[in-house]
Amino acid sequence: MLQFRRKKAEKAREIDTQNLPRHIGIIMDGNGRWAQQRSLPRSAGHAQGAETFRTIANYCKDIGIEYLTVYAFSTENWKRPKDEVDAIMGLLEKYLYEAIERMERDRVKMKFFGDVSVLSPKLLALIERTSEISTHYSGCQVNICLNYGGRDEILRAAQSYAEEYARGEVGELSEQALSDRLFSAGVPDPDLILRPGGEKRLSNFLMWQSAYSELYFSDILWPDFKTSDLDEAIIWYQARSRRYGGI
Ligand code: FPP
Repeated sequence: MLQFRRKKAEKAREIDTQNLPRHIGIIMDGNGRWAQQRSLPRSAGHAQGAETFRTIANYCKDIGIEYLTVYAFSTENWKRPKDEVDAIMGLLEKYLYEAIERMERDRVKMKFFGDVSVLSPKLLALIERTSEISTHYSGCQVNICLNYGGRDEILRAAQSYAEEYARGEVGELSEQALSDRLFSAGVPDPDLILRPGGEKRLSNFLMWQSAYSELYFSDILWPDFKTSDLDEAIIWYQARSRRYGGI
């Protein structure tokens, strides 16, 4: 009997694959503290964070999440010491090299949100190549935010609209018209945004798109985040009732 009850309780903690969030956003926070706790350089925390990203992105693809957006490097992260910035860029390069090898097999799409034009020519070439390969696939779409800031994204969209308006090409500004000019154009808004690492804020991540997102915060540091922790977040999300301003 006890065993039966335990089985039932375990079952109740499984994700409902019929009611998955279409789009999950993740603020990958806590890499530095993870390294500090182990007396390691911060770059070691980012390296472990990149491993966690690989595991979570694969898991999202496997369970049928349509879009995953991760905050890899913000417009403010340039303020970090050069060796830390270089370490993050190096990890991104390594990941994109691998991704290019595997995209055909996994049939994933990859997009980049942010002004990538300022990145190194090597990284830019990898971004171009992954973007090009992505046009052939329609599987899980992974969006990597790189040199990204939510306010910067809105400003750019408004600026581009203003220019079109001045040329007489468009009429009154609307929510749709602005959405269409964001880096995320064509991607549904995130249903669920996760922030591991203990802080409870959005830090300029998907400011426009998060208007109705469910926000899930966890104290687990990103490098320690497991697929079972993502399950917990999805189960929490599945118990929410989303009203979008209604009753
Ligand atoms: C925030 O933690 C994390 C970052 C600014 C970098 C995230 C980068 C990666 C996970 C590696 C590369 C990404 C990919 C997609 C391959 P923090 O450094 O602010 O941590 P702290 O708050 O503990 O200091």
